This record gives sequence, structure tokens and C-alpha cells, in this order.
Amino acid sequence: MFFIISFVLFFSIFQSSLSNEINLYTTRHYEADYEIYRKFQNITGIKVNVVSGKSKPLEKRIIEEGKNCKGDLFFLADAGRLYSAEKKNLFQKIKSSLLNEKIPTHLRNDYWYGITKRARIIFYNPEYINSEKIKNLNYEDLGNKEWNDSIAIRQSNNVYNQSLVASLIYNLGEKKTSEWLENFVNNFYKTPMGNDRAQILAVAAGEAKLAIANTYYYALMLSGKKGKSQQEAAKKVKPLFPNKNNRGTHINISGIGVLKHSPNKINAIKFLEFLVSEEAQIHLSKNSFEYPIVENIEIPEILKLISKEFKEDKDTPVEIYGKFQTRSFNLMLEKKWN
Ligand SMILES: [Fe+2]
Repeated sequence: MFFIISFVLFFSIFQSSLSNEINLYTTRHYEADYEIYRKFQNITGIKVNVVSGKSKPLEKRIIEEGKNCKGDLFFLADAGRLYSAEKKNLFQKIKSSLLNEKIPTHLRNDYWYGITKRARIIFYNPEYINSEKIKNLNYEDLGNKEWNDSIAIRQSNNVYNQSLVASLIYNLGEKKTSEWLENFVNNFYKTPMGNDRAQILAVAAGEAKLAIANTYYYALMLSGKKGKSQQEAAKKVKPLFPNKNNRGTHINISGIGVLKHSPNKINAIKFLEFLVSEEAQIHLSKNSFEYPIVENIEIPEILKLISKEFKEDKDTPVEIYGKFQTRSFNLMLEKKWN
């Protein structure tokens, strides 16, 4: 009997040490992500099992599964969401000098790592607005009277907007941000609705003068991957990178943390390290039109064309988007940003 139990025990330990896989929970739905997972599998022999969904249900699932959660990694868009998962105690700290060396300090923390980067910028239609006149625009200027009834932006429950406001609280303080928000919300051209691409379309159609949206949506429209009519609309619109004469343009990330009860931690770290390799970074940027998280990686032609005036804010740690999220959201609601 003793021998049988020992054998079963030995066999199950032996089997789990051989388990050549990782379980990735992700909120991203890009086909290109799956291609890079397959590439990782081909190189290392480690199979990537993907569970995809929206951030809240996945978060809930991980919490409910607790110690039995088979997930190794959680991939989320926006530092605010990563921070939220961290505060719910979903992640564990890992050690990787490679990740620390390749990912700039302000784009990671002890629990999660930026994998790609995006900028939240302004779009305008040069048919209605003189490029010269607005070339030095700052986010702070969007509260000025001249932009009354002009600005297209999505709702306050959108995490990208909460992160943008959090970056203003960090840089200007809460009092100034609150004053700015009051005027900014007054400048909306209509009650916010729709996604980032809808805001760009409103500017293309001449309904709004300025739109705020993430860079990759615009690049995606320009690429033709969203159809001919969106491509034509995007061509009418120009990007403007705010705050280029001071702290630089607001940056956010898509990033990953290793889950607390990860059964395949070593493989998970290998996977993270693969995602910051030159090959993976080029692939992700080429297909999602996000910026590589690693410096000096070749970006696709469309991104090069639109990013000529891009000066990135490298002084604001993205972690503060999570820390200030509640304060940001409350301020936005207080100022009647729906
Ligand atoms: Fe997005």
C-alpha cells in the first residue's frame, strides 16, 4: 500500500514538474497576440493556453478560483486596471533582471510589467483648424473658452480617461485639475458617447473640432483594417501630441502580472521575457499599432508617419493612474462628465 501511495505521489509531482504550458488570462483580442503566443510555443515547446474575456469578469473568476486558479498570467490594457488587480492581491512579485533592464521604470512596478505602450492624444481636422495655431497645445489648454462646444471624448467610466485625469492630478495637483475639469467638461461638443474611433469620426465629419483618442485606434483606421470609410475619415484628420514643450504626451500601457497562485511560474517568466524580445516587440507594434515598450525598436511605417512630433512623458509613473483612479473618477462625476 505504502509503495502504491508513494508511486502515485511521485508520479503526480513528476508530471506537474513536466507540465510544459502556461495559462494566460487576457483582455486583449488581437489575432496578432495569438500569433506571437504560437511563436513562443514553437521556440520553447511551452504551450500557451488562453482564456480571454473582459477585465472585470476575469478578475472575478481569478478571485473566486482562489488557490485553485490555474492562471499563470493576467494581461490587461491600462495601468489603472493592472493596479486594480494588484490591489485585489491577484499578483505576485517575480524576479527578472532582463525585464527590469528592458522595461523603463515608470512603465512597470513590483507586480506588473508594461508590454506595449500607447499615447492618448488630440485629433483635429485641418479643414477647420489651422495646424500652426494649435501646434503647441497642452491638455491644460482644453479648458479654455475658445474650445467651447468643441471637444469629442468618450464617457467618464472609460479607464483611459480616468488615467488621463489621474496624470493631471499627479502633475498639476487636485485643485487645479478640478478647476480645469469644470471648464473642460463645459467644452464638450455633446454628451459623451461611443468609443475612441467614434470621437475621431466626429472630428472627420466636422461635428467636433477636437477629439481625444488613443494613437492605435487612429493608426488602425488609417491602415484600412477597419474598412474603407473609416480609412477615408482618418485621412481627413491629423494627430496632435499635446504638451510637447513641457512634460510630454500622456502615455499608458498594456501589461502583464504573474498571478499569485501561478502553477507554472518559471514558464510564465520565460513568456514575459519573450514578449520583450525584439521579435515580439516588432510583431506586436506592427499589428496592434501600439508603441513598443522597449526603447529603440523599429515601429511600423504608419506609426512613424504619425509620430513625428511625439515627445513622450517619461516622468509620470503609470502606476499613479491606479493610485489616483478613485479620486479622478469622483472628480469627473462631480463635474458632470457622464
Ligand atoms: Fe483600446
